[in-house]
This record gives sequence, C-alpha cells and structure tokens, in this order.
Amino acid sequence: MERFVINGGIPLKGTVSISGAKNAAVALIAATILCDEPCILENVPQISDITKCMKIMKDMGADIQLKDKNTVYFDTRNINTVAVPYKLAQTMRASSYFLGTLLGRFHEAFVPMPGGCDLGDRPIDQHIKAFRALGAEWDIVNGSNHLKADSLVGNQIYFDFVTVGATMNAIFAAVKAKGMTVIENAAKEPHIVDVANFLNSMGADIRGAGTDVIKIRGVEYLKGTTYATIPDQIEAGTYMVAAAATKGDVVISNVIPKHLESITAKLRKCGVNVKENDDSVHVWVDAPIQKTTIKTMVHPGFPTDMQPQFTTLLTVAEGTSIVTEDIFSNRFRYVTELRKMGADISVDGNGKVAVVQGIKSLKGAAVSAPDLRAGAALVIAGLAAEGTTVVDHIYYIERGYENIDLKLRELGADIHRVNIPEPELEGVQLSV
Ligand code: EPZ
Repeated sequence: MERFVINGGIPLKGTVSISGAKNAAVALIAATILCDEPCILENVPQISDITKCMKIMKDMGADIQLKDKNTVYFDTRNINTVAVPYKLAQTMRASSYFLGTLLGRFHEAFVPMPGGCDLGDRPIDQHIKAFRALGAEWDIVNGSNHLKADSLVGNQIYFDFVTVGATMNAIFAAVKAKGMTVIENAAKEPHIVDVANFLNSMGADIRGAGTDVIKIRGVEYLKGTTYATIPDQIEAGTYMVAAAATKGDVVISNVIPKHLESITAKLRKCGVNVKENDDSVHVWVDAPIQKTTIKTMVHPGFPTDMQPQFTTLLTVAEGTSIVTEDIFSNRFRYVTELRKMGADISVDGNGKVAVVQGIKSLKGAAVSAPDLRAGAALVIAGLAAEGTTVVDHIYYIERGYENIDLKLRELGADIHRVNIPEPELEGVQLSV
C-alpha cells in the first residue's frame, strides 16, 4: 500500500501553482452530457475523481480525449444508455450529478446511490425534491436511483436548507426544461457560478448563480464551447495553512483571492500574514500562531472542506481554540489520528464541537487518512511535526489534490511516496 513518509519541521518556502477546482470540474464534466455538440474543458485537474467521472462516461458511450494533461475534449452525443455503471459511481459523491444531467437530456436516469467521503449521513432528499418539482418520478430499483419524466416543466424549487449538490442537480435538470424555473435558498459556492457560466457559454439562460435565487429559462439546444475550470479554492487554502503551520513563506499562485476571503480572514486572526495580489496570495509567518474560533458554514462562510486542515494548525496555536462543524455530522474522525501526534483535542458527544488546546509542537507518528480533507490535514501535521510521520490510505488524498507530494517537495518539504507492505501481511501466503 502506498504511503507518504514525511520528515517534518522544515518551513515551506517558494511558489506553488493551484490546479483546477475538483468540485467544479466533476460538475462541469457531468454537464457535458447536456451539450448537443462537442466541447472542450481546460484546467481540468488530474485527480482520481475526475478520471473516474470520465471513465464512467466513456463506458456509457461518450468520446472523451485528453488534448493535454489538463485539457479534455468531450463529445457525448453517442451516449447510448441512461444507466450509470455501479462500480465506480458508488465510490464518489459527484456521481449524483449524472442524475440531473441524464434526466435533463434523456428524461430518464438510473444512478447508484452516490458514495464519497464518510462525513456522516449524506442523503439526497433535496435532489429528489428538485427533480419531482420539474415533473420527474423517482424510485429505488435494485439499490439505484431511477428517475423518469414524460417531460420536464419549469417550476419553483425551494430548498429546505442550502445544499451544493442539490443546487447543481436542479440547474442540470432545469436547463432544458420547458419554461422558467426559480431555485430559492440556492447554494452560492464558486463552483455553482462556474457551472452556470459553462452552461451559459453553450447558450443556456441561467441568471443569479452565486446568489440564493437562481432563475433558469429552459432552452432546446446547447452549442459547443471551450471553457476553463476555476482554480481550486480548497487546494489553495490547504497550501496557505501548510505555509502557516510550518512557519514558512509561500506564494500560492493561480488563485481567485475573492474565493479565499474567509480563509484569509481566519489566518490573519491567527496572526498569519496574508497579502492578496491579482491572482496569487502571499502567506508568511513572523509571530506565534494565535488561537481562534471556527464555525463551518455555507459559502461565503468558512468552508467545511477547510475544517480539518485549519484545526491541525490550531493544535500548535497559543491558547484554546473552538471548532464547530455545522455542515456534516461526522467530520472529526481525524482527531484520533492527530492525538497520536500529541494533539490535545476533545470532541463533544454529538461530534459537532472540538476544543483544541494549543501545544508547542506535534510529534511524528504513523497515522491513517480517514477521508480526503482529513488526509490533507494529516500531511500538514506531518510537515509541521518534529520527526517522521507516515500517512497511509493516501488514495483518499489523491482524489482531490493533483501531485501534492511533488508540489510540496518543490516548496522544500521532505515528503516521499513509498510502497510499504502491510506488516501483518508480510510473509503471509495470500490465496490467489
Ligand atoms: C459538496 O458535497 C462537495 N462535494 C463537498 O466536498 C463539500 O463539503 C460540500 O459540497 C459542502 O460544501 C462535491 O462537490 C463533489 P451538500 P455535497 O449537498 O453536494 C446534507 C470535498 O472534500 N444534505 O452541500 O454532498 C448533507 O448530508 C467534499 O471536496 C441533505 O441532508 O454537499 C450535508 O450534511 C467533501 N440532503 C449538508 O446537507 C440533501 O439532499 C451539505 O451537503 C443534500 C445534502
């Protein structure tokens, strides 16, 4: 099994370039199913969730070609099924976007229950509410979601609470429906705006993306386009926190500073210097890290996908910090791993609030990544710690971070990918 071996205590220094946004790209790729002509996506990150999405679509008949490592050609006109293959689809949350795009184009979809990081219960009731509002019928057949509609007619959709995935799927299902759809209580994340811009560049009529009311007038035809994915604000935030945790001096380039505002504000609160330039941010430390309070919220609040990374920084801050996870019900599973490194963190019974007592330094240990962002947090912990840290289950990390070990080595980190057999399997004759 591949692991990262990290010798910590080295301040990160230099410049790192941010890749395309995972949570935008997985939606943009699914959205090509709605396009009536070939189209091209640029700045697509080379990460496993993206590869899986493209493999699923190829297996369904799409013609997908890499023009270069981050530019992809899509011709989905020959997709010959509305059934998404089970194996890959149940490994990631993004497969839920095939519900909205297949329904939007074919008026039918057959998609396994989506998987994704284990962050607690992750139902899709609001997605189904949106599909039903537009005229689709939903049921479960052999463990998969089945949607069918004689026709899709625009309607008002009011979400019970803000949800990124359901907002995306409501847009996908409405973009070719008859008449006007109004989505209220919509998510406002940058990747929602990115998807709306992509579809509008094909001739869709979507207004208000980025606000809590999105209006969509259905169109019949979507023409080909070339479109570049926005930079990944969570990848950028992860490197900002890594720079702070190692008391480094790093320029994070190819970003949209406005997308990082809540992360920048929190880092400054902790005494970290952050200078915003046109398409980069400069992060450096010249004073002890101070405690703070974090409460994860929907955009533009502090992003839940930065919670594990920031909590790791707070383990070596001066004083006691409070971290409240308000989006997912089980996003502190990594705390047990940080405790192996000496962190002093207690989590309340409901798994919603962590109290972090700052310590002088973390100490290297063997730890296990429980999910994508927690895996990134453990890498940050290893970079900041004294001694050697081994992080396993790094396939989680590679779902969302392009070349993370290479990018960190270029910043001076001592991190290497090694293949260490499972000790308990050494010498055991495995049946073939
Ligand atoms: C997207 O997940 C992201 N994934 C997540 O990023 C991110 O944490 C999340 O949005 C919040 O920003 C992708 O974009 C592929 P939600 P999603 O629908 O769409 C509940 C990462 O690390 N909910 O906004 O699943 C849900 O259980 C990943 O990149 C319902 O109850 O998030 C959660 O508690 C992790 N019913 C909350 O709402 C529904 O129908 C927010 O979920 C939908 C959601």
